[in-house]
Amino acid sequence: MTDPSGRRIAVGVTGASGVIYALRTMAALLEQGCHLEIVFSDYGRRLLLDEIAPDANVERLGEILRARYGPGAGRGTFSVSSNRDMGAALASGSHRAEAMVIVPCSMKTLAGVAHGLSRSLIERAADVMLKERRRLVLVPRETPMSLPALKNLVACAEAGAVILPAMPAFYQQPATIDDLASFIAGKILNALGFEQHLFPQWTGRVNRSET
Ligand SMILES: Cc1cc2nc3c(=O)[nH]c(=O)nc-3n(C[C@H](O)[C@H](O)[C@H](O)COP(=O)(O)O)c2cc1C
Repeated sequence: MTDPSGRRIAVGVTGASGVIYALRTMAALLEQGCHLEIVFSDYGRRLLLDEIAPDANVERLGEILRARYGPGAGRGTFSVSSNRDMGAALASGSHRAEAMVIVPCSMKTLAGVAHGLSRSLIERAADVMLKERRRLVLVPRETPMSLPALKNLVACAEAGAVILPAMPAFYQQPATIDDLASFIAGKILNALGFEQHLFPQWTGRVNRSET
């Protein structure tokens, strides 16, 4: 498979609410010509069906991204690995995926990453990012949060991960659910070191579109 930009990014999708954040992030990275190495947990697959559409299965991912976000989502390439495949390339530090985002990140997977459990490919790939001192971005979604979850966030931050909670802002005047997803996806792209045009930069005042 071609790797047009030379940028190879791992994307883990777990069973927290907000799979739309994952789809918007994937589409934006593909628009920039990345190669994505994608892993869904079992509950990540379930939430894709529950929150997007009853026929939104992972096998149709490319089609879903192009239908929602346009042909630009076909610019890059992607592969999907099983979360049970501990022999996948992402499980090794010798594999050159440069960064990883787990979006959305469940409290269960957060706990696994915080404690280095490596019970699944997503947890193992995250551990590889931490041990190799590469960028790991976690996008937790839960409310309210338990004390163990808060401690797990601190442990991951201390280990070098960027904690980027799924907390969209409202000062950019979002009009649609896609606007909210684009805000978080834009933040993720910035955290991964990409330019992004998914929401406007703050200029010092609210940009109201007069009707
Ligand atoms: C509809 C639905 C919504 C859920 N939302 C969340 C959530 O927002 N945050 C969370 O931590 N877990 C949530 N869960 C629970 C996780 O899916 C569950 O803990 C699962 O075991 C996580 O496994 P995974 O991390 O391997 O995907 C949800 C489950 C369902 C069925």
